[in-house]
Amino acid sequence: LSDEEIDDLIAFFDWVANVDNQGWPPRPILVTGSSIPGTSLSIAQQDISGPGKTADQMPPGARPVSGNEDPIALGEALFRTATPACNACHSIAPGVNLAGPTLAGLAARAQQTIDSPDYQGKANSVEAFIRESIVSPSAYLHPGEMYSAGGVSFMPTSYGESLTEEQLDQLVQYLASFK
Ligand code: HEC
Repeated sequence: LSDEEIDDLIAFFDWVANVDNQGWPPRPILVTGSSIPGTSLSIAQQDISGPGKTADQMPPGARPVSGNEDPIALGEALFRTATPACNACHSIAPGVNLAGPTLAGLAARAQQTIDSPDYQGKANSVEAFIRESIVSPSAYLHPGEMYSAGGVSFMPTSYGESLTEEQLDQLVQYLASFK
């Protein structure tokens, strides 16, 4: 690098150091998500219709556990509680791209991806694509250098091990509901 380039880099780092990044980057990955649109539901949006519970009996942010919850609701909870939490890197609000892309409109985008000639993965349905994205994050990479480096996604590869088949299904059903 020339002296001028080094000066430019220093000026850039100085600028970056003063950007309000709200706790990012995640080393270790912090799971707060409360101030980023689409990363955490407010209590009013949560299903508080558990047996015999009303909102004011629940601790903030808690959701009741009942045997008859549907897979989408269970997937939504997992999105915030898996380790590391999905919402540390993914918003579900349109246009809010964090370390990972927003998952708003994922079902339509997944269909476009698997129909495109660039897609080299194995999925042939929206559900299969979402599942593949979770267990083999590098099977499909968004073009450019935003979300991957050297052909490897920034998304952890641990979920295929750490989540059960049932939990994967719940996450897939939840995310496939973002039409
Ligand atoms: C450390 C950050 C990180 C975490 C945590 C993370 N992801 Fe990702 N995820 C990414 C990145 C980065 C990509 C995009 C990779 C690429 O396409 O190059 C991605 C891609 C995806 C995609 C494909 C999106 C698309 O537009 O094709 C899905 C679906 C997804 N992640 C779901 C999840 C789920 C579910 C979890 C939690 C179980 C999770 N992610 C946790 C970073 C993360």
